[in-house]
Amino acid sequence: MRKKVIAGNWKMNKNRKEAKELIEALKPIAQDKTCGVIICVPFTNLETALTLTDGTNIKVGAENVHFEKSGAFTGEISADMLTEMGVEYVIVGHSERRQYFGETDITVNKRLLAGLEAGLKVILCVGETLEEREQGITEEIVAKQVKIALQGTCEKCIKNVIIAYEPVWAIGTGKTATAEQAEEVCAFIRKTIEGLFNKEVADGITIQYGGSMNEKNCAELLSKEDIDGGLIGGASLVAEKFGVLLEEASKY
Ligand code: 13P
Repeated sequence: MRKKVIAGNWKMNKNRKEAKELIEALKPIAQDKTCGVIICVPFTNLETALTLTDGTNIKVGAENVHFEKSGAFTGEISADMLTEMGVEYVIVGHSERRQYFGETDITVNKRLLAGLEAGLKVILCVGETLEEREQGITEEIVAKQVKIALQGTCEKCIKNVIIAYEPVWAIGTGKTATAEQAEEVCAFIRKTIEGLFNKEVADGITIQYGGSMNEKNCAELLSKEDIDGGLIGGASLVAEKFGVLLEEASKY
């Protein structure tokens, strides 16, 4: 049985003071939970998050990483810079990066490989737009995103990849995919991984759902066999709400 993993994606929220308050509130809530607990925070909060979570069961992640090792890339952060700080996880390919910052499947692949090479665990986001869902091409889109993002990975390093299925139309909209819709695509992603690698890899990989997942709808989503946790935006910004998700995910 796969352990459920709940990851918060704070996006561009929380100044240092607010980050400290949230993490201090989360620590006692997370303490006795058996699910995986990750918080992905803005670059400016990484140091704070690492210091405050030291010795706890809360893991820290960044929200993006550049694919080059170093050089003239103003405003970017390399994977080695993150690992040197002690950061363990990084999100790549979030739909907001694809939508607003010109991220493509190719650059997602480069970031994923750079992250893995540096020793980071990578949360790879994939998901279709509303238009794509309505056209009936969800599976094609998600398969393409997964296959291109994972090009050049090996059976060993794929153990450091989590896939987050985040339908674009469900992100920040309050419109959650139904548990059936989410399960269907997560199961499809697992089949795709089986095709790329083998059944053992597919059975072992963590596949999260993300998109308006919150304290109210998490129980049904997490009860699904192929949904191994959640990547949480809005509800990760409030300790009590995030706590409900951790509680629910720890029942498995
Ligand atoms: P919301 O939970 O706010 O919809 O955001 C989901 C998300 O994008 C997580 O990466």
